[in-house]
Amino acid sequence: MGENGTFWLPEGASTLSPEFDSLFYFVVIVSTLIFLGVVGGMLYFSFVYRRRNEAEMPEPVHDNKLIEMASVVIPTVLSLIVFTWGFKMYVKMYVAPPDSYQVHVRAQQWSWEFDYPNGTKSIGELHVPEGRPVRLIMNSKDVIHSFFVPAFRVKMDVLPNRYTSVWFNATKTGEFDIFCAEYCGTAHSKMLGKVVVQSESDFTNWLASSQKGSQTPVEHGQTLFTQMTCNACHTIDGSPLVGPSFKGLFGHEVKLADGSTITADENYIRESILQPGAKVVNGYSPIMPATYSTMASEDVDALIAYIKTLK
Ligand code: CUA
Repeated sequence: MGENGTFWLPEGASTLSPEFDSLFYFVVIVSTLIFLGVVGGMLYFSFVYRRRNEAEMPEPVHDNKLIEMASVVIPTVLSLIVFTWGFKMYVKMYVAPPDSYQVHVRAQQWSWEFDYPNGTKSIGELHVPEGRPVRLIMNSKDVIHSFFVPAFRVKMDVLPNRYTSVWFNATKTGEFDIFCAEYCGTAHSKMLGKVVVQSESDFTNWLASSQKGSQTPVEHGQTLFTQMTCNACHTIDGSPLVGPSFKGLFGHEVKLADGSTITADENYIRESILQPGAKVVNGYSPIMPATYSTMASEDVDALIAYIKTLK
């Protein structure tokens, strides 16, 4: 496996890539061996046992328990290996380490926009530190896109009506391609970007020197909290008003009016802002107005970022 990739795979630049590549090569090699065995056997038998003259009658063939067992057991074992290995990897790729650096990704026809926790924004270029897990929280302003970085072996759909996320831990500095991997209209094939992996100190310098919004997402969320009068019904100190308090909400279980429970993640909070009637909290009435259903996705992100800080 060369520095700049192989015939089969591009260069790997994240902690996930070696394991991903091993699984890929395992499947390719096993499939090739089976293919050669089946086709080779077929050619061999059709030559050796060909009919040599018109009068020749084949011997009757009897069953062979060993071959029958093997043709059930071997494929089953191979499928189970691939399933178990793949499932373990999937779980690993899906669940970001809790200390991940979080960046918001917004997709739209036909560009990528990135929001960093300190208020920095960038378009088309995602800057990340080397050797630190980065979690991307993604949503789309219009249609379905898919965020794909081949070098990191990560790909995830980016949807207009909920958040999806991926994480990676880059193992080398440099620039790596971002592709949109879901057909999203005329300029889909031009919906490209770059991940710029920098050393921790270069990254810190970049963050400090680049264009910042006037507020960080958390500050923006805090402003919205009063500006949009969320505070008329929700407190941040734990006491209930007409609506439940935001204190200690994020990441915790919420009991709903229908008796079920749900973990308050980004998607739950987003839904509760945009469609307040969808999941009403136990003990409260469904009286939150639909005023907030038209909130810009940046504002929703900011409010969630603020709510996350209310531990
Ligand atoms: Cu965005 Cu294809």
